[in-house]
Order: sequence, then C-alpha cells, then structure tokens
Amino acid sequence: TTRFKKVDNDYILNAIDKSDKMIEFMSNTIDDFRNFYKPDKKKEDFYVSDACKKAINIIDATLENLGINLILDIKEDKKIFGYPTEFSQVILNIISNAKDVLIEKNIKNPKIEINIESKGILSIISIKDNAGGIEEKNLEQIFDPYYSTKDSSKGTGLGLYISKLIIERNMGGDLSVSNNSEGAVFKIVVAG
Ligand SMILES: Nc1ncnc2c1ncn2[C@@H]1O[C@H](COP(=O)(O)OP(=O)(O)O)[C@@H](O)[C@H]1O
Ligand SMILES: [Mg+2]
Repeated sequence: TTRFKKVDNDYILNAIDKSDKMIEFMSNTIDDFRNFYKPDKKKEDFYVSDACKKAINIIDATLENLGINLILDIKEDKKIFGYPTEFSQVILNIISNAKDVLIEKNIKNPKIEINIESKGILSIISIKDNAGGIEEKNLEQIFDPYYSTKDSSKGTGLGLYISKLIIERNMGGDLSVSNNSEGAVFKIVVAG
C-alpha cells in the first residue's frame, strides 16, 4: 500500500496541468496547420475581403472576450487568384499572434486593424496592432521555422513560417513585417 501513497492531490493536479499543456500545444499546432495539407486543392478566384471575414469569424468571439478591438477597413476589394482557405489561415495566424502579444504585454486599449486596398493589379492587406512591435534584430527571424518567444505549450513557431510559404510559394505574393510607432505591421501583397 505504501507504493500508492504518493498518488496524492499534488500528483493528480500536476498530471492534469501537464495534460492541459499538452492539449493546448496540440490545439495550437492544429491552429497553425489547419488547411495546409489538403491534397486536392485548386486555385480559384476569390475576394480578399471574404477570406479576411472568414478568418475574423473564427476569432472574433475570442477577441471580444479579451476586450480587443478589431477594425476592418476595406478601401478597395478585389478578386485574387489562389487558395482561399489557406489565405484565410494566414490572416488568422497573424491576428492570433497579435492577440497573443496584446495579452502577454497587457496592453491598454488593445486593437488590431486590418486594411484592404489595391494598387493596379495588386491587392495589399495590412494587419497592424498596438502591442509595441518586434525587436529590430528579430524582424527577419520571426519567419524562421520553430522561432517562437512563447512557452513551448503556447507556440509552435510554425505559424509565420507556414504563412510565408502559403503567400510566397503557393500564391506568388509577398509577406513582410515592419514596425510602426504603435506596433507590428504585417503586409501581404498578392496579384489579382
Ligand atoms: N504582432 C506581433 N508583435 C510582436 N511579435 C510578434 C507578432 N507576431 C509574431 N511575433 C513574434 O513572432 C514569433 C513567431 O510567430 P509564429 O511563427 O506565429 O510562432 P508562434 O506564434 O507559435 O510563437 C512569435 O513567437 C512572436 O515572438
Ligand atoms: Mg503564431
């Protein structure tokens, strides 16, 4: 019987905590990869705004609960040619990262702003937050696979790597990042 005495409350709470972390990690991994490995994908024409709205629908309840203000500003909406579900995934990844930093840094009046505009045949989607931005020395690294500043249960470090593959390799566009005075600015440029 003494062998089993160690299974006390602490042991059980600890096991639950570990399971929770593992589930959280699996859930983050699913979020990062959702729709990436679909075999029979076809390129199609779709509206940038529709793909952005699909992403927003998935996360807006969460943002509202956290008090994060999401602003969608559509200046000029166009059809682009590519993979709509993957494109939504990219928008979702970028919004979700912004949400994570806004919460981690406990930012007052947290906000995420999405702008859709166009120049000639190009559609430009910018996603900005007011979480203070990314350290200059890490600006390029954030697209590297497994680069993450989150604990291992919270981040896979694959979201932006996959996002860049989707936009640049699969859709021939460009995904870049910079800082403005308030925070990070992610910019997607794709041709119609
Ligand atoms: N909006 C942002 N503001 C500040 N840092 C960011 C932002 N978006 C991404 N990052 C940084 O880029 C890293 C990599 O992002 P990502 O590839 O999605 O991996 P993960 O979210 O799993 O950490 C994050 O860990 C974070 O340090
Ligand atoms: Mg991420």
